Amino acid sequence: RMEGPIPEERFDDVIAHLRCSFFADEPLNRSVRLCERGQPHRELEEHARQTLRDNLSEMALDAATNQVVGVALNGVLWPGDLDQAQAKLSDMDDAKFRRIFGLLYSVNRRLDLFAAFNVDRIFECRILSVDHRYRGRGLARTLLARSLQAAKDAGFQLVKEDATGLFSQRAAESMGFQTLHEMPYEEYKNEDGGIAFPTEDPHKTLKIMVKQLH
Ligand code: ACO
Repeated sequence: RMEGPIPEERFDDVIAHLRCSFFADEPLNRSVRLCERGQPHRELEEHARQTLRDNLSEMALDAATNQVVGVALNGVLWPGDLDQAQAKLSDMDDAKFRRIFGLLYSVNRRLDLFAAFNVDRIFECRILSVDHRYRGRGLARTLLARSLQAAKDAGFQLVKEDATGLFSQRAAESMGFQTLHEMPYEEYKNEDGGIAFPTEDPHKTLKIMVKQLH
């Protein structure tokens, strides 16, 4: 069963779901071992809660247990947000979190989607996550389809996703997203020359993907 926007009384359940799914499994998090499965992560949880407050997120519930089994956490990106977020990164304690978000912010700042698409706000799919027991059944695609509808209803002209692994890239492609930028992880090096994100197969590139709504 799908439900959106996610009501505030479900925020804690969403965080509990993310601790068991997204925090450990998302390819970049996994490549640097950001979290052990089930463990909290202060910065990621703040990122998720801030996104939930934009009231544009969607969730999948198990019809029998009513448990959260998947989410698309969507937020609004405004001009200047990335500059501010990047400036705040230096205050964050977790070097792995800084490395992941440093990459995402710098790639997105370079692309400057506001100018490229002549828009003043962007609907951003920030966290796409499905419980491992429910994967491969089309839940991510359905969550994305509902997110696109929510974006359309709210009058957005551009939807964006930083798709960090092959499965989120495939889900977005089937929903009509296009790849604006692709970066192979093996080309992105640490200060010491090593690969910064040694992701597991089949997750080889970061794709910045967009869909225009009319
Ligand atoms: N092997 C091969 N292909 C797969 C697999 C698999 N194990 N799992 C999914 N796919 C493909 C599907 O075939 C489908 O492709 P298609 O549309 O071309 O047929 C596509 O991926 C999406 O399949 P869904 O069943 O809709 O995806 P699912 O419900 O399994 O969820 C998700 C995908 C959310 C990426 C899940 O694997 C997950 O939670 N992973 C950990 C967190 C993560 O990586 N999130 C995405 C990061 S990017 C971001 O959050 C914006």
